[in-house]
Amino acid sequence: MSNRPFYITTPIYYVNDIPHIGHAYCTVVADVLSRYYRLMGRPTLFLTGVDEHGQKVQAAAEKRGLDPQKHCDEMAENFRAIWKELNISNDIFFRTTDSFHKKAVQDCLQQLFDAGEIYTKEYEGWYAQTDEIFYTEKDLVDGKAPTGAEVVKISEKNYFFKMSKYQDRLISHIEKNPEFIQPEYRKNEVLGFLRQPLNDLCISRPKSRLSWGIELPFDKDYVTYVWFDALLNYATGVGLKQSTRSAEFSKWWSASPSPVMHLLGKDILTTHSVYWPTMLMALGLELPRTIYAHGWWLTSQNEKMSKSKGTVVKPLDVKNIIGVDALRYFLSRDVRLGNDSQFSLELVISRVNSELANNFGNLLSRTCSLIAKYFDGKLPVVEKLSDKSVALKQVALQAQVKLTAHLESNELQEALGVIIDLLTNANQYLAEREPWKMAKTDLPHAGETLTVSLECVRIAAILLQPVMPTKCAELLKRLGDASHEWKYASEFMVLKPGTLITNEAPLFPRVELPKEEPAK
Ligand code: MSP
Repeated sequence: MSNRPFYITTPIYYVNDIPHIGHAYCTVVADVLSRYYRLMGRPTLFLTGVDEHGQKVQAAAEKRGLDPQKHCDEMAENFRAIWKELNISNDIFFRTTDSFHKKAVQDCLQQLFDAGEIYTKEYEGWYAQTDEIFYTEKDLVDGKAPTGAEVVKISEKNYFFKMSKYQDRLISHIEKNPEFIQPEYRKNEVLGFLRQPLNDLCISRPKSRLSWGIELPFDKDYVTYVWFDALLNYATGVGLKQSTRSAEFSKWWSASPSPVMHLLGKDILTTHSVYWPTMLMALGLELPRTIYAHGWWLTSQNEKMSKSKGTVVKPLDVKNIIGVDALRYFLSRDVRLGNDSQFSLELVISRVNSELANNFGNLLSRTCSLIAKYFDGKLPVVEKLSDKSVALKQVALQAQVKLTAHLESNELQEALGVIIDLLTNANQYLAEREPWKMAKTDLPHAGETLTVSLECVRIAAILLQPVMPTKCAELLKRLGDASHEWKYASEFMVLKPGTLITNEAPLFPRVELPKEEPAK
């Protein structure tokens, strides 16, 4: 079981702008899960990347007066650089302008065309440029797209994929596979949507209107609809339609059960849970195991972040104030995966101070400074654990079991809650036993208390590695270079007597809200 491959993807982001906190969120969550499965010893692959074709990107390049490819090259580098700063460990950085992808998309289109899965017809519909989606009359709400985007009536010849043909098969797949669309309430939403007749999917754009895309192999006057091109990235990224990569494709895509988990925001659930699976069915390919829709980060006024209102949060601005690991921690901890949450610097700082600086940081620094003071910085010999210590040991040993169960159900918030509970318990234990007083009358008991506390810190540091890789590595180093291996979180009293414990500056210093710049 533990050898099963795990392949996780984020959406590939449009390169019309630099990443904001919503993009960083999805990428961090995917990174945490990847790092977790790697630590568990499972073969793991993590893909993120950029979506470079289509109207939005063409318009962004035009606005900058740049050739689209040059614009994409620059923007792709921005994404790469930001993910590096957030310590994202993706194995693949996907670009849809890579020639192998363009060729593979054309091969898929040709396969579907030859199989009669694509047909042409004159089409009249309401087109929303910002969504890049055609709507029918009945989709419109007050003359606008359901997303609120402006629409214009367009009439043109286009190519269509016979998506409707797969409607019943898709419904039955969703019903039979409870893991397929998550969280469950999103599955019900998709099933609700599928209760209406499904239209066929327009998969072409005439070059006269949009030239920045992958040319249709069977009609050079058209490019491919950007979503049809983009969704295929998940499969071309692991070798689809590339004869030299067939072993890779079998491992990461067609294995049974499927190793694939797509993580994405709730706003792009339909494209992922309706367009994509029907495309795969038509191509004769396996479906992903899970499509998981996360929620949105909203402003403190509970609004969607908006560029024009200046309420978009840039991840590096936050990182520069609180540090990369604290940002990763906040994003993983603050909201239940799937729900919306508010984002404000005040909320971030308050959580980081209470859970990392006060809870985790204080436990570490109190313990280490007392070991320095009373034991020359070396772990004392512990003869026997008292009842209170045994009780705390049980909590610590349960932590890994509970955290694992949560992470494997994609419950990051709850997984981190387990560690916070352990640290809270350890702080209480320390406060009750007052080793700073005990040391003056009963040194062996003080030694036992400090060692047991430090064991809790050690276990927390191993288990928090997927979320805060840098801080945890530094912490384990301070504990006499303790092993970071996952298995040592299920053992207690691993640190040996005599181990030199480093007592340094706080690992999680308190963070202050930056002062507002005085108005000029
Ligand atoms: N290019 C498409 C995806 C193609 S995948 C085959 C796209 N790109 S995007 O740049 O618009 O990024 C969308 C992702 O960012 C979505 O998953 C979306 O939910 C997420 N977010 C955008 N704003 C967000 C928040 N405010 N909060 C959380 N995530 C949000 O769509």
